[in-house]
Amino acid sequence: MNPIITIDGPSASGKTSVARRVAQRLGIPYVSSGLLYRAVALLGLRQRVSAEEVESHLEKHLLSLEPTAQSNRVLLDGEDVTEALHSLEVDRVVSAVAKRPRIRAYVNQVLRRIPPPFVVDGRDMGRAVFPQAQHKFYLTARPEVRAQRRMLERNVALDTVLAEIIRRDQADQQQSLPADDAIVLDTSALELEEVVEAVLAQIRARNGLREAPTPPA
Ligand code: DC
Repeated sequence: MNPIITIDGPSASGKTSVARRVAQRLGIPYVSSGLLYRAVALLGLRQRVSAEEVESHLEKHLLSLEPTAQSNRVLLDGEDVTEALHSLEVDRVVSAVAKRPRIRAYVNQVLRRIPPPFVVDGRDMGRAVFPQAQHKFYLTARPEVRAQRRMLERNVALDTVLAEIIRRDQADQQQSLPADDAIVLDTSALELEEVVEAVLAQIRARNGLREAPTPPA
């Protein structure tokens, strides 16, 4: 079987790190759906146009995601834009972009073309994009904990990140709901490896996916 494992949750809930580690442990690719929304946001920033305008001419552009073992490469009209996708500027505009229905449909199409198996992280992977997925998880954590995690990644002040996280939680609320059959994990008090173990334990319990053998040292 070629399983799809979905890991959804709000921003900085740890889903990306967890998805990447789970994929590594299972020896299957990891896919970050948020990168595609970020790439569309970058397109709008570069062209200095609104989300609405980007939506109207998106089909003129070519967007693709190449899953590699540990990360993803995003190509926008042939250019590798991966490095530019995690700036605060992109953070600020990406929710408006991710709200547009035609942009969501476009991103979902790109995602559904990726051949399983893979672990995918996002907001609505289990509920809307891959309802047939074999294993679905939804990670949560208190906003203060998430702000602390993101601050370490971005090197900006804690209150700036916290305000941004609270604003984005509200903006993303609608597309960020757990699937009815998702396992919900609160990661506030857990280390990354503990969350990874919890996810793998659920997968093992449900159908015994084999982990990739540890490569020789
Ligand atoms: O997970 P992330 O922070 O890279 O996501 C970037 C933005 O894209 C975030 O504002 C939510 C949105 N997003 C979404 O609406 N649906 C997804 N499946 C993934 C991300």
